[in-house]
Amino acid sequence: MPATTHYIPVETLRAFIRDVLTALGVPPADADLCADVLITSDLHGVESHGIGRLKYYYDRIKAGQHQVVTHAEVVRESPTTAVIDGHHGMGMVIASRAMQMAIDKARTYGSGAVAVRNSTHFGIAGYYARMAVEQGMIGVTVTNARPSMSPTFGVQPMMGTNPIAFGAPTDEDIPFLFDGATPITQRGKIEVLARAEKPVPSGWVVDSHNQVLTDPQAVLAALTKGEAALLPLGGEGESLSGHKGYGLGTMVEILSASLQSGAFLLNLSGVGADGEPQPFRVGHFFMALDIESFVPLADFKHTTGQILRDLRNSRKAPGQVRIYTAGEKAWEREQVILRDGVPVNPNLQKELKFLQQALGLEAYQFPF
Ligand SMILES: NC(=O)c1ccc[n+]([C@@H]2O[C@H](COP(=O)([O-])OP(=O)(O)OC[C@H]3O[C@@H](n4cnc5c(N)ncnc54)[C@H](O)[C@@H]3O)[C@@H](O)[C@H]2O)c1
Repeated sequence: MPATTHYIPVETLRAFIRDVLTALGVPPADADLCADVLITSDLHGVESHGIGRLKYYYDRIKAGQHQVVTHAEVVRESPTTAVIDGHHGMGMVIASRAMQMAIDKARTYGSGAVAVRNSTHFGIAGYYARMAVEQGMIGVTVTNARPSMSPTFGVQPMMGTNPIAFGAPTDEDIPFLFDGATPITQRGKIEVLARAEKPVPSGWVVDSHNQVLTDPQAVLAALTKGEAALLPLGGEGESLSGHKGYGLGTMVEILSASLQSGAFLLNLSGVGADGEPQPFRVGHFFMALDIESFVPLADFKHTTGQILRDLRNSRKAPGQVRIYTAGEKAWEREQVILRDGVPVNPNLQKELKFLQQALGLEAYQFPF
C-alpha cells in the first residue's frame, strides 16, 4: 500500500509529545507545558512548529544544546522589568515563566517587560502573547533565532527568522493575534515543504551568488552551512520594501539581545569554533500592557473589535470573497483539526516511528 497522510487525534499526539519529553528527562509538568505549546501550533495549522518539530528537540537535547531540567533565574529586576537567565533549559518553560512575570507586573503597575538570555527555541511566539490576552492585556513577544536571513543588499544569513507576536482582546470570540516571522518565510516552512517533497517558491531564498534556490533539501543544507539566506519580508532589494522586513528583524534582534547583554546574530548558530554543537543562547523579550490602566477593558475590546470588523467588511479585490484579520484562520483551523486530527505525512511518520523506537514508546498504536 502506498504511504499516505494519516490524521491523528490531537490528544494522542499531545500525550506522545509529553511521553517523548519525559523519556528524555523533562519533568512531567514541564513536559505538559511543552506539549501544549507544540500541539497549539498544530491546532492553529502552523505545521512547522508542532509535532513536526519534536525530533528537532530530541536531537538538540541529545546534543546537549537544551537542558531538560529548566532553572530559570531572575538576574535583575525592577517593579516593571526583569531579566531572566534561562541557563539553556527548555525554551517553552522559560518563555512561559517570563511572560507570566510580565503579566504579574502589568497587573500591579500597568505594564511589565521581561528580557531573557540563554534560552532555547520556544516554539510559536503567539502562545505567550496569547497568555496576556487571556488576562485582558495586550501581549507582545519577540525572539531571535539561529542565523538564516540576510540584510537588504546582502546574501549572508546573519539574522534569525525573528518573529513578532502581538495579541489583543476584542469583543468577539477570537482575539486579534498577529504572529509572524520577519523573513518572507521561516525555516520551519522549508522543513514542511521538504517533508511534503514540494519546491520552495521562487523569491524566498537565495544562495551566496544571489541566485534563487527552490529545492527544499538543498536550501536546508545550504542554510546550515551559511551558503543560503532567507529574504526579508518584501523580498530582495528595496523595490518591494525588503528593507522594512530587514528593519523589523533588526528591531527584534535588538529587543531580544541588547536588553540582556546576550548573544546575537552569528553567535546564535548553535555551533562552536570547534564545529561541535553548543547551546544556542537564544534571547527573547516579552511585554504585557494592562488595558484597564489606559481605558475600561470593555471600551478597548469594542474599539478593537470594530477596527477588525471594518477591515473585514471593506471592499474586496476582484475574485476575493473574504478579508481576514490575524488570528481568524488559526481559530477556524483549530475547529477542523479538533474534528479531523493532525495531518501526519509519510516523512513525519518516519520521525515519529524513530522516536517510538528510540525511547521505548511502542505502546502507541499509530496507524502507520
Ligand atoms: N521560535 C522561533 O524561533 C520562531 C521563528 C520564526 C517563526 N516562528 C513561529 O512560526 C509561526 C509561523 O510564522 P509565519 O511567519 O510562517 O506565519 P504566517 O505567515 O503563517 O502567518 C503570520 C500571521 O498572518 C496572519 N494571517 C495569515 N493570513 C492572513 C490574511 N489573509 N489576512 C490577515 N492575516 C493573515 C496569521 O493569523 C498570522 O498571525 C509563528 O507562530 C512564529 O512565532 C518561531
